[in-house]
Amino acid sequence: MDAFPTAAGVDVLIVAVDGGEVRAFQAMCPHQEIELVEGEFDGKVLTCKAHLWQFDCGTGKGINPSDCQLAQYPVKVEGEDIYVDVAGVEPFKSHS
Ligand code: FES
Repeated sequence: MDAFPTAAGVDVLIVAVDGGEVRAFQAMCPHQEIELVEGEFDGKVLTCKAHLWQFDCGTGKGINPSDCQLAQYPVKVEGEDIYVDVAGVEPFKSHS
């Protein structure tokens, strides 16, 4: 798991889920915009370090609480390069 800036100025979180598939999500927690890269990732579930919200990195769906979501970006992997298309995808924020 790591976070990177994109040329479009959007930070993305890159994770390799169990099985090796690469996924890209919004870099900031939708709760209070803490960097998710500082959380814990077990290969499936990402836990934000701040208030322990959890997300399924297969889908980006919230597990706890279940009514939140990470924005997911399309990813293309070519060799060692990862291309992320951030166009038209807005990060979720809840501020609750
Ligand atoms: S900022 Fe991530 S759980 Fe609160």
